Amino acid sequence: MELQNKIAIVTGGASGLGKAIVQMFLENGSKVVVLDIDQQALNTLEESQNILKLVCDITKEEEIAKAIEQTKEKFTKIDILVNNAGILYSEPLISIMSEQKRHSKEKWQKVIDINLTAPFVLGSYVAEQMVTSRTKGVIVNISSISAKGNAGQSAYSAAKAGLESMTKVWAKELGGFGVRCVAIAPGFMDTESTHIAVNEKILEEMKKQTPIKRLGKAEHIASAVKFAIENDHISGKTLEIDGGLVL
Ligand SMILES: NC(=O)c1ccc[n+]([C@@H]2O[C@H](COP(=O)([O-])OP(=O)(O)OC[C@H]3O[C@@H](n4cnc5c(N)ncnc54)[C@H](O)[C@@H]3O)[C@@H](O)[C@H]2O)c1
Repeated sequence: MELQNKIAIVTGGASGLGKAIVQMFLENGSKVVVLDIDQQALNTLEESQNILKLVCDITKEEEIAKAIEQTKEKFTKIDILVNNAGILYSEPLISIMSEQKRHSKEKWQKVIDINLTAPFVLGSYVAEQMVTSRTKGVIVNISSISAKGNAGQSAYSAAKAGLESMTKVWAKELGGFGVRCVAIAPGFMDTESTHIAVNEKILEEMKKQTPIKRLGKAEHIASAVKFAIENDHISGKTLEIDGGLVL
């Protein structure tokens, strides 16, 4: 699929990896709808006819339904969905010595809601649009190498593993309609959220364990998204963009 004049929805596109993905679409002549909960971060994106910035909490189905309607009103169809928004909480299953002894259920639920349930709801709305309008579209789900099971990340690893599994399901269900679905699993990327979420000592250790001895850049993920969309023969697979790191 060519990116020129395609309509792409990107969740969490106001910062981090999502912002680089939005930039990549704009540079390649696509029109982008950015759904993000953070108005201030949305304001940092360029203003043009080719971008529609919507404040949207993707954990609220009514806000998703409204955003889909606004997208159709402005751009008439949807060719691409990138389920990128996600949050990370690291907490061991049990911490016997601390007051909060067990991985909190509230944090579990929040991580599952944003990283797994929201992509499912958005995917269902967008797939319906693609199939009924006979659009041969692409859905890209941003996973993580943590899907393989990262210590201290019960909720996040489970959510990302679920997202990768759902990618396979959608590839099978939608392939007959010409819709492809691909997951991309970044390793440790040099983004603000990584430096906030992961202790610098652990990050240094991860760099050492990475065969190419460096963190990835947001642009590496944006170029993987471009590849997944342009290559018409990839579906139901996860592209691991992690410098060769094995968890
Ligand atoms: N940065 C990394 O190293 C890394 C590694 C592996 C996977 N990932 C995955 O890549 C994706 C992007 O990560 P990032 O590091 O760029 O994160 P980030 O925190 O920099 O950006 C996430 C964006 O999502 C938005 N968001 C959060 N909750 C939302 C909600 N309920 N509704 C709408 N928008 C919401 C935030 O406002 C933010 O703009 C995530 O799915 C993450 O799990 C990142």
